[in-house]
Amino acid sequence: MKNVAIVGSQWGDEGKGKIVDWLSSEADVVVRFQGGHNAGHTLVIDGVTYKLRLLPSGIVRKDKVSIIGNGVVVDPWALLDEINEIKLKGVEVNQKNLIVSEAANLILPFHREMDEIREDAAGKAKIGTTRRGIGPAYEDKVGRRSIRVMDLISEKNLDHRLETVLMHHNAIRKGLGKEIYKKDKLKENLLSIAPEILKYSQPVWKKIDEFKSQGKKILFEGAQGILLDVDHGTYPFVTSSNTVASAAATGSGCGTNSINYVLGITKAYTTRVGEGPFPTELKDEIGEKLGTVGKEFGTVTSRKRRCGWFDGVLVRQTIKISGIDGIALTKLDVLDQLSEIKMCIAYEVDGKKMDYLPAAVNDQLKAKPIYKTFKGWNCSTKGIKKFQDLPENAKNYIKELEKFIQTKVASISTSPERNDTILIVDPFKS
Ligand code: IMP
Repeated sequence: MKNVAIVGSQWGDEGKGKIVDWLSSEADVVVRFQGGHNAGHTLVIDGVTYKLRLLPSGIVRKDKVSIIGNGVVVDPWALLDEINEIKLKGVEVNQKNLIVSEAANLILPFHREMDEIREDAAGKAKIGTTRRGIGPAYEDKVGRRSIRVMDLISEKNLDHRLETVLMHHNAIRKGLGKEIYKKDKLKENLLSIAPEILKYSQPVWKKIDEFKSQGKKILFEGAQGILLDVDHGTYPFVTSSNTVASAAATGSGCGTNSINYVLGITKAYTTRVGEGPFPTELKDEIGEKLGTVGKEFGTVTSRKRRCGWFDGVLVRQTIKISGIDGIALTKLDVLDQLSEIKMCIAYEVDGKKMDYLPAAVNDQLKAKPIYKTFKGWNCSTKGIKKFQDLPENAKNYIKELEKFIQTKVASISTSPERNDTILIVDPFKS
């Protein structure tokens, strides 16, 4: 039996939705284990576009179980909206195909407000968050004052938990000159939607254990990317969860030995949304072209993504940090019309050559990329399904990339459509 974890090997938006959707045809169960509705996974199936934020990508396929693990932060209203949206597109969502961990922590309106208050107050030092309340919700989780899905069962318990969390938030709000957040209206609102949420609530660790003993194949679906990991990313310009593959174990309640293959989704160039270091960023017409051809606008916030060349140093680093076994190279076709393609193979920091990105943000900001230049292929790769059918220059670029990152290219994606993929290694069968 093989279980697969997929993670983003850059700053997110690597095209995970399509790969997860494609792999979920083989999986029985798809599990989200971190992040929240800051994620945006776009799936294009038979010409219909589905934009998922919180729901696992498996939800659009019949007979698959989708799980939201304990490591996910859940905005209950956002979850219900997304369920309704997807139902309107003809997708069935019920207690059989959706399970939400009883231990998942809730994102509440005061988290979202705190995210906004801080970002607005930070001026130039802002993180550029999605303003969904992700950071403040994770802070409350670690601060042991969070409200979890299971707390919606009892009015008395919910009252007590709200009292505790609001004591903390209101002290900060007072200090920032903001209005005090009142408990009663929020409690009433939460209790009114509680049955709708609780009907999906289960002990996820137990369900996963059952699925494992039944020999079901599990796909763990990471959100964001490793460079946004709170420990290993470009801190403080990161999200507030661990985005590495081992987070799949803690974020769902199974051991790391439940993950047999880690697939790193990797874009053939680099993008980033929000602030923070980005050594290979292109602020010229090539960057603009990548953004236009690659339709690089955020799924969640519609923000324009910053674009740049493929950074081999960073991807090699995240592969090692997260234990990635193979990469799924996405959006190769976006490079089709470029006469020259560059790949970063080292940095220069204060006149010193470096083969990794230093940890301090000030050094990261100083890192100047050293490039290797490749000839472009100047023809369409859109829809190609066999490696041998790729133009020679594209094959060469991919082989060199593979050598540099010291990891196998397991698949290559040549359009947003589900079937436009060159499959080299099937993670479930490898
Ligand atoms: P937060 O996760 O909303 O706190 O945002 C923190 C940082 O992570 C910001 O730079 C966001 O733009 C970035 N981020 C969060 N989620 C995603 C995602 O799904 N794709 C890309 N960037 C993301």
